[in-house]
Amino acid sequence: MVKKLNEEKLTLGICYYPEHWPEDMWEDDYRRMKELGITYVRMGEFAWSIFEPEEGKFSFDLFDRAVAKAGEFGLKVIMGTPTATPPTWLTKKYPDSLNVTQDGIPYQHGARRHYNYNSENYRRLSSIIVKKMAEHYHDHPDVVGWQIDNELNCETDVFYSEADHDAFREWAKKKYHTLENLNAAWGAVFWNQTYTSWDQVYLTRKTVPNSPNPHHALDEKRFFSDSAISYAKLQADILREYAPKQWVTTNGMFGHLDNHKLTDDLLDFYAYDSYPNFGRIIEDHSVKPLRDRKWSWNLSVVRSISPNFAIFEQQSGPGGWVTRIEQPSPKPGQLRLWTYQSIAHGADMIMYFRWRTATKGTEIYWHGINDYHNQPNRRVKEVEAVSQELHKLGQIAGSSYQAEIAYVTNYDNEWDAEFDKWVGPYEAKSKDAWFKALQYNHVPVDAFHLNAETSLEDLKSYKVLVYPHAAIITKEQAELFNSYVKQGGKMIFGCRSGYKDETGQPYMKAFPGYLADLVGVNVEEFTREAPFEETPGVKFKNLQEVEANDFNEVLQLKEDVEVLGTFTNAHFEGKPALVKRNYGQGSSYYFGGVFNLDLASLLIDEFELNDYQDLFDLPEQVELSIRHKEGTDYVFLLNYSEVPQEVTFKKEFTDLITGRPVTNKHTLKPFDVIVLA
Ligand code: GAL
Repeated sequence: MVKKLNEEKLTLGICYYPEHWPEDMWEDDYRRMKELGITYVRMGEFAWSIFEPEEGKFSFDLFDRAVAKAGEFGLKVIMGTPTATPPTWLTKKYPDSLNVTQDGIPYQHGARRHYNYNSENYRRLSSIIVKKMAEHYHDHPDVVGWQIDNELNCETDVFYSEADHDAFREWAKKKYHTLENLNAAWGAVFWNQTYTSWDQVYLTRKTVPNSPNPHHALDEKRFFSDSAISYAKLQADILREYAPKQWVTTNGMFGHLDNHKLTDDLLDFYAYDSYPNFGRIIEDHSVKPLRDRKWSWNLSVVRSISPNFAIFEQQSGPGGWVTRIEQPSPKPGQLRLWTYQSIAHGADMIMYFRWRTATKGTEIYWHGINDYHNQPNRRVKEVEAVSQELHKLGQIAGSSYQAEIAYVTNYDNEWDAEFDKWVGPYEAKSKDAWFKALQYNHVPVDAFHLNAETSLEDLKSYKVLVYPHAAIITKEQAELFNSYVKQGGKMIFGCRSGYKDETGQPYMKAFPGYLADLVGVNVEEFTREAPFEETPGVKFKNLQEVEANDFNEVLQLKEDVEVLGTFTNAHFEGKPALVKRNYGQGSSYYFGGVFNLDLASLLIDEFELNDYQDLFDLPEQVELSIRHKEGTDYVFLLNYSEVPQEVTFKKEFTDLITGRPVTNKHTLKPFDVIVLA
C-alpha cells in the first residue's frame, strides 16, 4: 500500500516548544498563529524530563495546559515522542543507553541523540514513556498524530555500544546461520579474518590503517538501518495499540536508514525536514551549481517514499548553532520560494521551524519566523502572504507530481558506494549532473527506489530510467531491467555498473556483469583518470566533444550495438565510449564514464521526453514542476535567482493566486513563484 499524507487542502503548521517560554506568552503565541492561518502545532519531541521528571513519575500538566490552550484557538497538535533527548537521570543511571564511538568512547549527556537503539534499558524506558503518552493523549480531540522520536540517525548514523555489538552478532546469526556462510559473505579468507566462533563477531572496529573489511562494513550499515527501524517499531506498535485513532509518522531523512522500509512497515506517511539554506553554504565547485534548488532532489527522494508528504520543519530563517553552521538570512522571497519548492514536489502540509528563535541553548541562531523580540518582522510577513495564497491553492492537495523519467536509488548501492572510493564519488557526480541537466532543461524527474519487491509494473511507470553506477546488480535485477527495456523502456548506465554481488564482492565476470546482455558490451579495459594528465574526451555522434572525467571504460561491442560516442585524447582514442542497443521495444545505453552536465543534456535530447516547450519558454533559473489531479495540471514555476526572469507562455493559463489569465510574456520577480492551471 502506498503510504501518503491525506490532507484535504494545503495546510501550514509550526514547531512550538511551550516548555521554552513563560506560560503567559502561550495565549498570544497561539492567537498570532491562528491569525497567520496556521493549522498544526508540533510539540513535545524534546521534553522527556517534563513528562517524566524522575524515573517512573509522570507529569502531563504542562503539556496538558499547552495542548488545551492550542485547542482553544482551534489549533491541532502533533505530539512528538521525546526519545531523541533522554533525561539526565536516565543516562546517569543507565549508561548502557549511551551511544559509543567506533573507538569505544561513550558519548556523554549534553546534546541530543547520544543514545543507542539496542540498549535493553533504553528500549524499556522508551516503551514506558511512549505508552504513558499514548494512554494520556490517545483520545484528546486536539491531538491528531504522532511523530516518533526526532530525525532518526541525525547527528550520527553509526553506533558501537556493547548492546549494538551484541545485537549485530544476533543479526549476523539470523542472516547467515553458519560461520561458514558469514566467512564467505565477508570474504574473511582475505587477511586472515576467518571467524571460528560467534563471540569473535563484532561491528567494525578500529583497524590499522582504518580501513575495515568492506563486506563487513556494508552489512554493518544494513544493521544500523534495521536497528533504527526496530527501535521505531517499538514505538509505532505502542502508538498503534494505545492511540489507534491518531496517525503515526517520523521526520527524516538521514544516513544508514532505509526510510522506504521504515515508512512501508510502520508509518502512515513520511515527513521531511527541509533546510535548503544549507545549499547556500555547502561548497560546490561544480559547473552551474544548483544551491538551494538542489533540495528539489531531496524532495524527490521523499516523494519516492510518500507521494504526498509533510514537511515537519521548513526552514524559516538563517540557521546556525553556536559552534557550527553559519547560514545567511533568506533573502526577501526566499522563504516563500522554499515553501513552494516543497509543495511543488508533493508536500501538502508544511510546518515552519520554528515559531520563535530560542533564547537559550545550542540553537540560539537557528531562527524561527519570530525573533527574540517578538515584534513584527519580514519573515512573519512572508509566511502570512504564503498562508493567504494557500487558501486559493488548497485544491492542489492530493495531486501527484508528473515525471516521465526517474533516477534510480538503492540502499545497498548507496551504502556500498559510501565506503568505496572507486565508485562512490562517481555516483555523486553523475547524480548531480543528471539532476542539473533535467532541471535546467525543464524535464521533471522522480527518484525511483529499487528494492527486492520492485516489479516490472513499478518500472513501467517511467519512459526512461537512469541508474548510472550501480556496482551491485544481481542476476534477478538484471532480468527485471531486461524485461523493462524489452517492453519499451529506455535505461541508461554508466561505468562501474554491475560488477559486484549483494555482499559487495566482485563477480568473476567481464564488466558489466549480468547487464552485459542488455547493454551489448563488455568492458575491454578501464582506467581512473590520473592527476596531472589531460582529461580524455568523448566525441558524441561525431559532432560535439565533451569531457570524460574521472574514470574511463573502453567498450568492446557484442552485437547490434550502435556507437554514439568514441574516446578522444587518450591511448584508447577512437574506441567506443558510449553505446546504444535496441532491445525489444526499447533501448539501453551504456557510457563507460562518469556523466557531466554536457553529456547528460545531450542524452536528454535523445530520449524525447516532454520538456513542455509547446507550453512555455523557460529560462534555466526557473524550475518547472507539474502536479496533476482529476484532469487538471497544476504548474509551478519557481525562480531561484535574484534577478527577474522572463517566461513566455504559448497558451493561456490562469494564475491561481491572482485568479487572472496569463498569456505571452510574464516576468518572475527575484525568488518569485507562479502557480498556474
Ligand atoms: C533539525 C532538528 C530540529 C532543529 C533543527 C535546526 O535537524 O529536527 O530539532 O535542531 O534541525 O538545527
